[in-house]
Amino acid sequence: MNICVVGCGYVGLTTGTVLSHFGHKVTCIDIDEGKVDSLNSGKCIIHEDGLEPMLQKQLECETLKFSTDIHTHMRKNEIIIIAVGTPSNGTGQTDLTYIDQVIEYIESLKADQHFQTIVIKSTVPPGTNDYVRNRLLQSGRDKDSFSVISNPEFLREGTAVYDLLHPDKIVVGGRDPLELELIRKMYGYLPSKYFFTSPITAEITKYASNAFLATKISFINEIQRICEAYKGDVSVVAEAIGCDPRIGPDFLKAGLGYGGYCLPKDIQSLTHSAIDKGIVPSLLHAVERVNHSQVDLYIDLLEKEMGTLKDRDITVWGLAFKPNTDDTRDSPSFRLIDGLVDKGSEITAYDPAASGTPKAINVSKDQYESVKGSDVLIIATDWKPFIEADWKRVKALMKGSIIIDARNCLNASIVRQAGLKYLAVGRH
Ligand code: UGA
Repeated sequence: MNICVVGCGYVGLTTGTVLSHFGHKVTCIDIDEGKVDSLNSGKCIIHEDGLEPMLQKQLECETLKFSTDIHTHMRKNEIIIIAVGTPSNGTGQTDLTYIDQVIEYIESLKADQHFQTIVIKSTVPPGTNDYVRNRLLQSGRDKDSFSVISNPEFLREGTAVYDLLHPDKIVVGGRDPLELELIRKMYGYLPSKYFFTSPITAEITKYASNAFLATKISFINEIQRICEAYKGDVSVVAEAIGCDPRIGPDFLKAGLGYGGYCLPKDIQSLTHSAIDKGIVPSLLHAVERVNHSQVDLYIDLLEKEMGTLKDRDITVWGLAFKPNTDDTRDSPSFRLIDGLVDKGSEITAYDPAASGTPKAINVSKDQYESVKGSDVLIIATDWKPFIEADWKRVKALMKGSIIIDARNCLNASIVRQAGLKYLAVGRH
C-alpha cells in the first residue's frame, strides 16, 4: 500500500515507521524542515525504545521517507493518515486547527482524484469524522472518491513501537465493512481484537480509555490520602486490590499524579464534550481535581518536616512526565518545581533524558552531582536509575538527609539503611 502520514509527532512517526516495516511504502510529512532532514538522515528526534534502528532500516530499504511536500504526497497516495496534534485551546476544548489545515490540503486536490482513504489517528472529539467528511463533500469532492475512517491509537510513549506491534485491540470507525479489511491489511493482518464500529463510537472509545486510566490513578491517589490520615500503606492496598482481576494491578501507582500530552488534555476534552450535550461530568471533574492537588501533598509534607522552604536546597530527580521518555509536557514534576520555587526554594534538577525546564533552575548533567550539598532529594519520576540509586553515595554527597519518594517507587528500608530519612505520603 502507498501511505502518506501527516504529522511526525510520536504517533505519526512511530506509526509511519512500523507501517513501512510491514512492507508498505510510506511517506511521512511534517512542516518542520529541520525535523524532516534529521529523520531522513536516520536520526530519531524522540526518545522512543526501538524506533531509531527500525527507522534506519526502513530508510535503507527505501520504503520510508520524510518530506515537507504535503501536496505531492497527498495526491500520490491511496491512504492518508492524519496524525497531527490536537492540543487543548486553553479552556479544555480541543483545538482542531491542524486537522483543518490538513482538510484544506485534501480539499485542494482536484475532484478527479483517484479513490483515497483518509484515516484519522489524531485524538479528536466525537463528531470530528463526520465534520471532516462533510467538509470534503461540501468542497465538491465526489462521495465515491473517498472515505474517512477513525482509527484511534492507544500507544504509550516510551513503548510505542512495542504497542504498535502488539495491539490489544484495533478500533476502526467507518461506514462500510470493507474498510475493516483495508485497515487489517494496513496493519499487516496483526493478530488482535478488531472492533468495527461507527466513527463516533471509535472516537468516544479513545477518550473513554484515557479517562478510565486517569480515573484509576486519581482513585488510588485519593486512597493514598486516606492511608496518610489513618497511617496505612497505599502500596500494599494497591497490590492487594490489584490481584482481583476485576480491578487489575496497572495504573494503581499513587504519587504526584498523571501528566503528559494525552491524559490531562483528553480528560478536559471529554469533559467539554459532555457539557456540550448538557451532561454534568461529575466523575471527570473529580478525577482532575484530585490530580491537580497531588503536588500540594508533597509540598505540605516537606513544610511539616522542615518548617519554611525558603532558601532550602532541593534536588528533584525526574523532569519527564514518566520514565523512559524525554517528554516533559504537562509534567507533574514541573508542577512540583513551580510550587517549590514559589516557596523560595533553590532547585537543582536531574533527568536521564529530559532537560528543558519552565523555570530558571539548575539542571545538572549528572545524577549524583545533582545532590551535592542538597537539603532534600525528591523523586518526581520513577526512572530505573533512581530506584536503583546508590543511597550511601547519595548520603555522603547531600548536606541534609531527607528523601521524598513522590512516586512510591523506592524500597524504604534500603534508603533508611543508608542513614537517610525516607518520607512518602500514605506509606506507613
Ligand atoms: C496514555 C495512554 O496510556 C495510552 O494508552 C494512550 O494511547 C496515550 O496516552 C495517548 O492518548 O496517546 P502516555 O501519555 O504515554 O499514554 O502515558 P501513560 O503511560 O498513560 O502515563 C500517564 C501518566 O500517568 C504519567 O504521568 C504517569 O507517571 C502517570 N501514572 C501512570 C501514575 O501516576 N500512576 C500509574 O499507576 C500509572
